[in-house]
Amino acid sequence: MNAIDTAIRAAAASITLAGITKSYDADTVVIPPMDVELKAGEFTVVLGPSGCGKSTLLQMIAGLERVSGGRILIGGREVQDLEPKHRGCAMVFQNYALYPHMTVGENMTYSLKVAGMPKAERVERVAAVAKMLGLSGYLHRKPGQLSGGQRQRVAIGRAIVREPGVLLFDEPLSNLDAQLRHDMRVELAELHRRIGATSVFVTHDQVEAMTLADRILILNKGRIEQFDTPKAIYHSPASVFVAKFIGAPPMNILPVTGDGSVLRLSDGQVVAEVSLSGSFQLGIRPEDIAMEGRVGDPAVKASLRFREDLGSHSILAADLADSVVRVATPFGADPADALHLTLIFPKSRLHLFDAATGRAIPGAFRAH
Ligand SMILES: Nc1ncnc2c1ncn2[C@@H]1O[C@H](COP(=O)(O)OP(=O)(O)O)[C@@H](O)[C@H]1O
Ligand SMILES: [Mg+2]
Repeated sequence: MNAIDTAIRAAAASITLAGITKSYDADTVVIPPMDVELKAGEFTVVLGPSGCGKSTLLQMIAGLERVSGGRILIGGREVQDLEPKHRGCAMVFQNYALYPHMTVGENMTYSLKVAGMPKAERVERVAAVAKMLGLSGYLHRKPGQLSGGQRQRVAIGRAIVREPGVLLFDEPLSNLDAQLRHDMRVELAELHRRIGATSVFVTHDQVEAMTLADRILILNKGRIEQFDTPKAIYHSPASVFVAKFIGAPPMNILPVTGDGSVLRLSDGQVVAEVSLSGSFQLGIRPEDIAMEGRVGDPAVKASLRFREDLGSHSILAADLADSVVRVATPFGADPADALHLTLIFPKSRLHLFDAATGRAIPGAFRAH
Protein backbone atom coordinates (compact mmCIF):
# COMPACT_ATOMS: atom_id res chain seq x y z
CA MET A 1 0.00 0.00 0.00
CA ASN A 2 1.22 3.49 -0.76
CA ALA A 3 -0.34 6.93 -0.39
CA ILE A 4 -2.37 6.78 -3.61
CA ASP A 5 -3.90 3.37 -2.85
CA THR A 6 -4.95 4.57 0.58
CA ALA A 7 -6.34 7.85 -0.76
CA ILE A 8 -8.46 6.15 -3.44
CA ARG A 9 -9.77 3.58 -0.98
CA ALA A 10 -10.71 6.40 1.39
CA ALA A 11 -12.46 8.38 -1.38
CA ALA A 12 -14.62 5.42 -2.52
CA ALA A 13 -18.24 6.60 -2.42
CA SER A 14 -21.58 4.81 -2.49
CA ILE A 15 -23.98 5.49 -5.38
CA THR A 16 -27.75 5.65 -5.03
CA LEU A 17 -29.98 5.86 -8.10
CA ALA A 18 -33.44 6.85 -6.86
CA GLY A 19 -36.05 6.50 -9.56
CA ILE A 20 -33.80 7.85 -12.30
CA THR A 21 -35.26 7.75 -15.78
CA LYS A 22 -34.21 8.85 -19.24
CA SER A 23 -36.39 9.57 -22.23
CA TYR A 24 -35.60 11.55 -25.35
CA ASP A 25 -39.27 12.11 -26.10
CA ALA A 26 -42.57 10.57 -25.04
CA ASP A 27 -42.08 7.60 -27.38
CA THR A 28 -38.47 6.75 -26.58
CA VAL A 29 -38.10 5.84 -22.94
CA VAL A 30 -34.53 4.56 -22.78
CA ILE A 31 -34.47 3.97 -19.00
CA PRO A 32 -37.77 3.56 -17.14
CA PRO A 33 -37.56 4.59 -13.45
CA MET A 34 -34.72 2.66 -11.84
CA ASP A 35 -33.71 2.20 -8.20
CA VAL A 36 -30.23 0.90 -7.43
CA GLU A 37 -27.85 1.04 -4.45
CA LEU A 38 -24.12 0.50 -5.09
CA LYS A 39 -21.91 0.14 -2.04
CA ALA A 40 -18.71 2.11 -1.55
CA GLY A 41 -15.81 0.10 -2.97
CA GLU A 42 -18.07 -2.26 -4.87
CA PHE A 43 -17.29 -3.30 -8.47
CA THR A 44 -20.55 -3.33 -10.43
CA VAL A 45 -20.72 -4.55 -14.00
CA VAL A 46 -23.64 -3.33 -16.11
CA LEU A 47 -24.25 -6.05 -18.70
CA GLY A 48 -26.66 -6.14 -21.59
CA PRO A 49 -26.98 -6.24 -25.37
CA SER A 50 -26.12 -3.30 -27.57
CA GLY A 51 -28.68 -0.50 -27.32
CA CYS A 52 -30.13 -1.53 -23.93
CA GLY A 53 -29.12 1.74 -22.25
CA LYS A 54 -25.80 0.91 -20.57
CA SER A 55 -23.91 3.98 -21.79
CA THR A 56 -26.90 6.20 -21.08
CA LEU A 57 -26.97 4.97 -17.48
CA LEU A 58 -23.23 5.55 -17.03
CA GLN A 59 -23.39 9.00 -18.60
CA MET A 60 -26.21 10.02 -16.28
CA ILE A 61 -24.04 9.06 -13.30
CA ALA A 62 -21.08 10.96 -14.78
CA GLY A 63 -23.21 13.98 -15.63
CA LEU A 64 -22.61 13.78 -19.39
CA GLU A 65 -26.36 13.14 -19.90
CA ARG A 66 -29.10 14.77 -17.85
CA VAL A 67 -31.62 12.59 -16.05
CA SER A 68 -35.24 13.03 -17.18
CA GLY A 69 -36.34 12.36 -13.61
CA GLY A 70 -35.16 10.99 -10.29
CA ARG A 71 -32.15 11.62 -8.07
CA ILE A 72 -28.53 10.46 -8.04
CA LEU A 73 -26.60 10.43 -4.76
CA ILE A 74 -22.85 9.91 -4.67
CA GLY A 75 -21.47 9.48 -1.18
CA GLY A 76 -24.86 10.62 0.11
CA ARG A 77 -24.66 13.93 -1.79
CA GLU A 78 -27.30 14.76 -4.41
CA VAL A 79 -25.46 15.32 -7.71
CA GLN A 80 -27.96 15.07 -10.57
CA ASP A 81 -27.86 18.83 -11.13
CA LEU A 82 -24.09 19.21 -10.72
CA GLU A 83 -21.51 19.62 -13.48
CA PRO A 84 -19.55 16.44 -14.26
CA LYS A 85 -16.39 17.83 -12.67
CA HIS A 86 -18.15 18.36 -9.34
CA ARG A 87 -19.44 14.79 -9.01
CA GLY A 88 -16.18 13.10 -8.01
CA CYS A 89 -16.43 10.61 -10.89
CA ALA A 90 -13.71 9.77 -13.40
CA MET A 91 -14.49 7.97 -16.64
CA VAL A 92 -12.54 5.59 -18.89
CA PHE A 93 -13.81 5.34 -22.46
CA GLN A 94 -13.59 2.58 -25.04
CA ASN A 95 -11.61 4.77 -27.46
CA TYR A 96 -9.24 6.01 -24.67
CA ALA A 97 -9.95 9.69 -25.51
CA LEU A 98 -6.33 10.70 -24.84
CA TYR A 99 -4.93 14.03 -26.05
CA PRO A 100 -2.72 12.97 -28.98
CA HIS A 101 -0.44 16.02 -28.87
CA MET A 102 0.35 15.61 -25.15
CA THR A 103 2.80 13.12 -23.66
CA VAL A 104 1.62 10.32 -21.38
CA GLY A 105 2.76 12.36 -18.38
CA GLU A 106 0.91 15.47 -19.60
CA ASN A 107 -2.24 13.46 -20.30
CA MET A 108 -2.18 12.11 -16.77
CA THR A 109 -1.38 15.41 -15.08
CA TYR A 110 -3.74 17.61 -17.09
CA SER A 111 -6.82 17.41 -14.86
CA LEU A 112 -4.71 18.00 -11.75
CA LYS A 113 -3.21 21.08 -13.37
CA VAL A 114 -6.66 22.40 -14.27
CA ALA A 115 -7.70 21.78 -10.67
CA GLY A 116 -4.81 23.97 -9.53
CA MET A 117 -2.68 21.36 -7.80
CA PRO A 118 0.91 22.55 -7.17
CA LYS A 119 3.46 21.11 -9.58
CA ALA A 120 5.56 19.11 -7.08
CA GLU A 121 2.46 17.34 -5.78
CA ARG A 122 1.25 16.64 -9.34
CA VAL A 123 4.54 15.12 -10.39
CA GLU A 124 4.61 12.92 -7.33
CA ARG A 125 1.02 11.76 -7.81
CA VAL A 126 1.50 10.96 -11.52
CA ALA A 127 4.75 9.12 -10.79
CA ALA A 128 2.99 6.94 -8.19
CA VAL A 129 0.12 6.08 -10.55
CA ALA A 130 2.49 5.47 -13.48
CA LYS A 131 4.46 3.06 -11.32
CA MET A 132 1.30 1.26 -10.27
CA LEU A 133 0.34 0.76 -13.93
CA GLY A 134 3.79 -0.09 -15.28
CA LEU A 135 3.98 3.17 -17.23
CA SER A 136 7.01 4.75 -15.53
CA GLY A 137 9.21 4.29 -18.59
CA TYR A 138 6.66 5.83 -20.97
CA LEU A 139 5.85 9.21 -19.43
CA HIS A 140 7.61 11.13 -22.21
CA ARG A 141 6.01 9.26 -25.11
CA LYS A 142 2.98 10.43 -27.07
CA PRO A 143 -0.10 8.15 -27.15
CA GLY A 144 0.64 7.38 -30.83
CA GLN A 145 3.87 5.69 -29.75
CA LEU A 146 2.11 3.23 -27.43
CA SER A 147 0.37 -0.12 -27.92
CA GLY A 148 -3.40 -0.40 -27.43
CA GLY A 149 -2.97 -1.92 -23.99
CA GLN A 150 -0.59 0.83 -22.89
CA ARG A 151 -2.98 3.53 -24.13
CA GLN A 152 -5.80 1.95 -22.18
CA ARG A 153 -3.55 1.94 -19.10
CA VAL A 154 -2.85 5.65 -19.59
CA ALA A 155 -6.59 6.29 -19.77
CA ILE A 156 -7.04 4.38 -16.50
CA GLY A 157 -4.11 6.25 -14.95
CA ARG A 158 -5.55 9.59 -16.01
CA ALA A 159 -8.79 8.63 -14.26
CA ILE A 160 -7.27 7.44 -11.01
CA VAL A 161 -4.73 10.26 -10.46
CA ARG A 162 -7.68 12.38 -9.44
CA GLU A 163 -8.44 9.95 -6.60
CA PRO A 164 -12.10 9.85 -7.64
CA GLY A 165 -14.89 8.56 -5.42
CA VAL A 166 -16.28 6.66 -8.39
CA LEU A 167 -14.60 5.14 -11.46
CA LEU A 168 -16.79 4.67 -14.53
CA PHE A 169 -15.77 2.43 -17.43
CA ASP A 170 -17.61 2.27 -20.75
CA GLU A 171 -16.56 -0.91 -22.60
CA PRO A 172 -12.89 -0.07 -22.01
CA LEU A 173 -11.55 -3.37 -23.38
CA SER A 174 -13.64 -3.64 -26.55
CA ASN A 175 -10.95 -2.26 -28.87
CA LEU A 176 -8.28 -4.74 -27.77
CA ASP A 177 -7.51 -8.11 -29.36
CA ALA A 178 -8.47 -11.29 -27.49
CA GLN A 179 -5.17 -11.93 -25.67
CA LEU A 180 -4.72 -8.32 -24.61
CA ARG A 181 -8.32 -8.15 -23.55
CA HIS A 182 -7.75 -11.08 -21.23
CA ASP A 183 -4.52 -9.59 -19.83
CA MET A 184 -6.13 -6.18 -19.24
CA ARG A 185 -9.08 -7.84 -17.54
CA VAL A 186 -6.74 -9.54 -15.09
CA GLU A 187 -4.86 -6.24 -14.55
CA LEU A 188 -8.11 -4.43 -13.85
CA ALA A 189 -9.16 -7.07 -11.34
CA GLU A 190 -5.80 -6.76 -9.58
CA LEU A 191 -5.99 -2.97 -9.66
CA HIS A 192 -9.44 -3.07 -8.11
CA ARG A 193 -8.27 -5.41 -5.37
CA ARG A 194 -5.47 -2.96 -4.68
CA ILE A 195 -7.24 0.41 -4.75
CA GLY A 196 -10.82 -0.60 -3.90
CA ALA A 197 -12.45 2.22 -5.90
CA THR A 198 -16.22 2.16 -6.35
CA SER A 199 -16.42 1.05 -9.98
CA VAL A 200 -19.20 0.84 -12.53
CA PHE A 201 -18.09 -1.06 -15.62
CA VAL A 202 -20.27 -1.30 -18.71
CA THR A 203 -19.88 -4.22 -21.11
CA HIS A 204 -21.79 -6.55 -23.40
CA ASP A 205 -19.22 -9.30 -22.66
CA GLN A 206 -20.49 -11.83 -20.14
CA VAL A 207 -16.99 -13.15 -19.42
CA GLU A 208 -15.84 -9.68 -18.32
CA ALA A 209 -18.96 -9.43 -16.18
CA MET A 210 -18.50 -12.83 -14.54
CA THR A 211 -14.80 -12.32 -13.79
CA LEU A 212 -14.71 -8.67 -12.68
CA ALA A 213 -17.96 -8.03 -10.88
CA ASP A 214 -18.86 -8.10 -7.22
CA ARG A 215 -22.40 -7.78 -8.58
CA ILE A 216 -23.75 -7.81 -12.14
CA LEU A 217 -26.65 -5.58 -13.14
CA ILE A 218 -28.29 -7.09 -16.22
CA LEU A 219 -30.20 -4.61 -18.36
CA ASN A 220 -32.83 -5.45 -20.97
CA LYS A 221 -34.31 -2.47 -22.82
CA GLY A 222 -33.38 -0.19 -19.92
CA ARG A 223 -34.98 -2.42 -17.29
CA ILE A 224 -33.12 -4.38 -14.62
CA GLU A 225 -33.56 -8.10 -15.28
CA GLN A 226 -31.40 -9.11 -12.33
CA PHE A 227 -28.86 -7.50 -10.00
CA ASP A 228 -26.84 -10.06 -8.08
CA THR A 229 -23.47 -11.77 -7.64
CA PRO A 230 -21.97 -13.63 -10.63
CA LYS A 231 -22.61 -16.91 -8.79
CA ALA A 232 -26.28 -16.18 -8.22
CA ILE A 233 -26.73 -14.96 -11.80
CA TYR A 234 -25.18 -18.19 -13.12
CA HIS A 235 -26.91 -20.62 -10.75
CA SER A 236 -30.25 -18.87 -10.28
CA PRO A 237 -31.04 -16.73 -13.32
CA ALA A 238 -34.16 -14.68 -12.67
CA SER A 239 -35.42 -14.91 -16.25
CA VAL A 240 -34.94 -16.62 -19.60
CA PHE A 241 -33.24 -13.42 -20.78
CA VAL A 242 -30.57 -13.74 -18.07
CA ALA A 243 -30.26 -17.51 -18.57
CA LYS A 244 -29.57 -17.04 -22.27
CA PHE A 245 -27.15 -14.16 -21.74
CA ILE A 246 -24.78 -15.99 -19.38
CA GLY A 247 -22.70 -19.08 -20.16
CA ALA A 248 -20.85 -20.23 -23.27
CA PRO A 249 -22.76 -21.79 -24.84
CA PRO A 250 -25.72 -20.31 -22.95
CA MET A 251 -28.40 -22.25 -21.11
CA ASN A 252 -30.63 -24.47 -23.26
CA ILE A 253 -34.28 -23.40 -23.11
CA LEU A 254 -36.96 -25.92 -24.13
CA PRO A 255 -40.76 -25.55 -24.19
CA VAL A 256 -42.37 -28.19 -21.93
CA THR A 257 -45.84 -29.11 -20.69
CA GLY A 258 -46.66 -30.47 -17.24
CA ASP A 259 -49.64 -32.80 -16.69
CA GLY A 260 -49.38 -32.90 -12.90
CA SER A 261 -46.96 -35.83 -12.76
CA VAL A 262 -44.33 -35.35 -15.51
CA LEU A 263 -42.90 -32.64 -17.77
CA ARG A 264 -42.94 -33.48 -21.47
CA LEU A 265 -41.10 -32.00 -24.44
CA SER A 266 -43.08 -31.01 -27.54
CA ASP A 267 -42.49 -34.52 -29.02
CA GLY A 268 -43.96 -36.20 -25.93
CA GLN A 269 -40.72 -37.41 -24.32
CA VAL A 270 -40.65 -37.14 -20.53
CA VAL A 271 -37.78 -34.97 -19.20
CA ALA A 272 -38.64 -34.78 -15.52
CA GLU A 273 -40.96 -36.40 -13.01
CA VAL A 274 -42.51 -33.54 -11.15
CA SER A 275 -46.04 -32.60 -10.15
CA LEU A 276 -46.47 -29.40 -12.13
CA SER A 277 -49.24 -28.51 -14.55
CA GLY A 278 -49.21 -26.06 -17.42
CA SER A 279 -46.85 -24.68 -20.05
CA PHE A 280 -43.31 -23.70 -19.10
CA GLN A 281 -39.87 -23.05 -20.45
CA LEU A 282 -37.35 -25.53 -19.10
CA GLY A 283 -33.70 -24.47 -18.74
CA ILE A 284 -30.60 -26.60 -18.43
CA ARG A 285 -26.97 -25.62 -18.91
CA PRO A 286 -24.90 -27.54 -21.51
CA GLU A 287 -22.46 -28.60 -18.77
CA ASP A 288 -25.26 -29.97 -16.59
CA ILE A 289 -26.65 -32.48 -19.10
CA ALA A 290 -25.52 -36.03 -18.34
CA MET A 291 -25.11 -38.71 -20.97
CA GLU A 292 -25.15 -41.98 -19.11
CA GLY A 293 -25.09 -43.96 -15.96
CA ARG A 294 -27.45 -41.92 -13.83
CA VAL A 295 -30.40 -43.55 -12.23
CA GLY A 296 -33.50 -41.81 -11.06
CA ASP A 297 -33.95 -39.25 -13.82
CA PRO A 298 -35.69 -40.02 -17.14
CA ALA A 299 -33.57 -40.29 -20.29
CA VAL A 300 -34.48 -38.65 -23.61
CA LYS A 301 -33.31 -39.51 -27.13
CA ALA A 302 -31.63 -36.85 -29.26
CA SER A 303 -29.76 -37.03 -32.54
CA LEU A 304 -26.34 -35.52 -32.98
CA ARG A 305 -26.14 -32.70 -35.46
CA PHE A 306 -22.51 -31.64 -35.04
CA ARG A 307 -19.71 -31.56 -32.50
CA GLU A 308 -17.07 -28.97 -31.83
CA ASP A 309 -13.90 -30.26 -30.24
CA LEU A 310 -12.38 -27.52 -28.08
CA GLY A 311 -9.53 -29.59 -26.67
CA SER A 312 -10.41 -29.46 -23.00
CA HIS A 313 -14.01 -30.39 -23.79
CA SER A 314 -16.43 -30.83 -26.67
CA ILE A 315 -19.72 -29.14 -27.42
CA LEU A 316 -22.31 -31.42 -28.99
CA ALA A 317 -25.32 -29.93 -30.75
CA ALA A 318 -28.25 -32.32 -30.99
CA ASP A 319 -31.80 -32.21 -32.27
CA LEU A 320 -34.26 -32.76 -29.44
CA ALA A 321 -37.99 -32.32 -30.00
CA ASP A 322 -38.27 -29.05 -31.96
CA SER A 323 -35.10 -27.56 -30.47
CA VAL A 324 -31.34 -27.84 -30.78
CA VAL A 325 -29.71 -28.57 -27.41
CA ARG A 326 -26.05 -28.07 -26.66
CA VAL A 327 -24.22 -30.49 -24.40
CA ALA A 328 -20.73 -29.86 -22.99
CA THR A 329 -18.77 -33.04 -22.39
CA PRO A 330 -15.34 -33.32 -20.74
CA PHE A 331 -12.37 -34.31 -22.89
CA GLY A 332 -12.58 -37.99 -23.84
CA ALA A 333 -16.08 -38.44 -22.45
CA ASP A 334 -18.13 -37.71 -25.54
CA PRO A 335 -19.33 -40.61 -27.66
CA ALA A 336 -17.22 -39.94 -30.76
CA ASP A 337 -19.32 -41.92 -33.23
CA ALA A 338 -22.74 -42.09 -31.72
CA LEU A 339 -25.37 -40.33 -33.79
CA HIS A 340 -28.09 -41.19 -31.34
CA LEU A 341 -27.58 -39.65 -27.93
CA THR A 342 -29.23 -40.52 -24.65
CA LEU A 343 -29.47 -37.39 -22.55
CA ILE A 344 -30.35 -37.12 -18.88
CA PHE A 345 -31.40 -33.83 -17.32
CA PRO A 346 -30.61 -34.15 -13.59
CA LYS A 347 -33.54 -32.68 -11.71
CA SER A 348 -31.33 -30.69 -9.34
CA ARG A 349 -29.90 -28.84 -12.36
CA LEU A 350 -33.17 -27.85 -13.99
CA HIS A 351 -34.54 -24.31 -14.12
CA LEU A 352 -38.18 -23.53 -14.75
CA PHE A 353 -39.54 -20.32 -16.26
CA ASP A 354 -43.02 -19.00 -16.89
CA ALA A 355 -43.95 -19.65 -20.52
CA ALA A 356 -45.47 -16.21 -21.02
CA THR A 357 -43.32 -13.84 -18.93
CA GLY A 358 -40.01 -15.74 -18.97
CA ARG A 359 -39.59 -15.10 -15.23
CA ALA A 360 -38.05 -17.88 -13.12
CA ILE A 361 -40.28 -20.05 -10.94
CA PRO A 362 -37.92 -20.55 -7.99
CA GLY A 363 -37.95 -23.82 -6.14
CA ALA A 364 -40.06 -25.60 -8.78
CA PHE A 365 -37.94 -28.76 -8.51
CA ARG A 366 -37.50 -28.80 -4.76
CA ALA A 367 -40.17 -30.18 -2.43
CA HIS A 368 -41.55 -32.51 -5.13
N1 LIG B 1 -29.61 11.42 -28.36
C1 LIG B 1 -30.44 10.38 -28.46
N2 LIG B 1 -31.69 10.52 -28.97
C2 LIG B 1 -32.53 9.47 -29.06
N3 LIG B 1 -32.23 8.22 -28.69
C3 LIG B 1 -31.01 8.00 -28.19
C4 LIG B 1 -30.04 9.05 -28.04
N4 LIG B 1 -28.92 8.52 -27.49
C5 LIG B 1 -29.17 7.20 -27.32
N5 LIG B 1 -30.41 6.89 -27.73
C6 LIG B 1 -31.05 5.55 -27.68
O1 LIG B 1 -30.96 5.05 -26.37
C7 LIG B 1 -30.80 3.64 -26.39
C8 LIG B 1 -29.69 3.23 -25.47
O2 LIG B 1 -28.46 3.67 -26.00
P1 LIG B 1 -27.10 3.36 -25.24
O3 LIG B 1 -27.22 3.80 -23.83
O4 LIG B 1 -26.00 3.96 -26.05
O5 LIG B 1 -27.02 1.77 -25.31
P2 LIG B 1 -25.82 0.77 -25.01
O6 LIG B 1 -24.69 1.56 -24.41
O7 LIG B 1 -26.39 -0.25 -24.08
O8 LIG B 1 -25.44 0.14 -26.31
C9 LIG B 1 -30.61 3.24 -27.82
O9 LIG B 1 -31.79 2.68 -28.31
C10 LIG B 1 -30.29 4.54 -28.51
O10 LIG B 1 -30.75 4.51 -29.84
MG1 LIG C 1 -22.72 1.84 -25.11
